[in-house]
Amino acid sequence: MPEPILAIDGLNKSFGGLRVTDDVTLSVAAQEIHALIGPNGAGKSTLIGQVMGEIAPDGGRVLLAGRDLARLSQARRVRRGLARTFQVPEVLGEYSARDNVLAALMARPTGRFFFNPRRDSTLAAEADTFLVHAGLEGRGDMRAADLAHGERKLLELAVALATRPRVLLLDEPMAGLGPHESAQMVEVLRGLRGKVAMLLVEHDMPAVFALADRISVLVYGRIIASGTAAEVQADPNVRIAYLGTEDA
Ligand SMILES: Nc1ncnc2c1ncn2[C@@H]1O[C@H](COP(=O)(O)OP(=O)(O)OP(=O)(O)O)[C@@H](O)[C@H]1O
Ligand SMILES: [Mg+2]
Repeated sequence: MPEPILAIDGLNKSFGGLRVTDDVTLSVAAQEIHALIGPNGAGKSTLIGQVMGEIAPDGGRVLLAGRDLARLSQARRVRRGLARTFQVPEVLGEYSARDNVLAALMARPTGRFFFNPRRDSTLAAEADTFLVHAGLEGRGDMRAADLAHGERKLLELAVALATRPRVLLLDEPMAGLGPHESAQMVEVLRGLRGKVAMLLVEHDMPAVFALADRISVLVYGRIIASGTAAEVQADPNVRIAYLGTEDA
């Protein structure tokens, strides 16, 4: 088996007496879409926070392309190829959609400097390309705060893509989206298949089944099952955790 692009190895984290990450081992293969599902409070967002370097684990390792990320800041992890989106989208509301992407482009270590990035037509065109990839064609001049909720989720994705990640950590990209917006998000993520690996935290099971190559199930901080959609659906532990009965 080829080396995974992202490997989470024996990760542990407690908040006081609450064990939110309990010996979690999980890998994402290059170009794989790996879904992480589990009930509210299972520890999914906390896991993303640890991979990204926002929350320090108590033990265990996170490796990107075989390299241990311990002690690397969030900024360095982004430079190595990790990017994320949030359950509640984090965008600069007062700035235009294009400027949000420009800010991410300017943060790249290119050796170039822009006193006024808006006047650099190459940079602006590049920003628009990321908006198009995220399904936001024609929205570049709109203030992020004036975008619909679903469009803000897409903008956050465009910002993440502008860092040119190797692995995208997506924390509930469908959260709060209507059926039309969800379908659009699924299409956009499907369009990224093969270009970037994804760890997809999601409650929307039709979206998970439409996108995921593999699914891992997290319950009370522990991975209780991992495999294809069919394997996970047939797993008695998953049936008990989700439905309270093995034969439901
Ligand atoms: N900073 C913190 N201090 C104490 N407890 C925390 C902290 N952050 C999260 N928790 C707790 O850790 C547990 C896991 O939370 P987390 O947000 O990771 O769950 P989740 O799986 O993302 O849930 P949801 O599906 O609702 O988003 C919860 O019980 C939560 O209350
Ligand atoms: Mg969460």
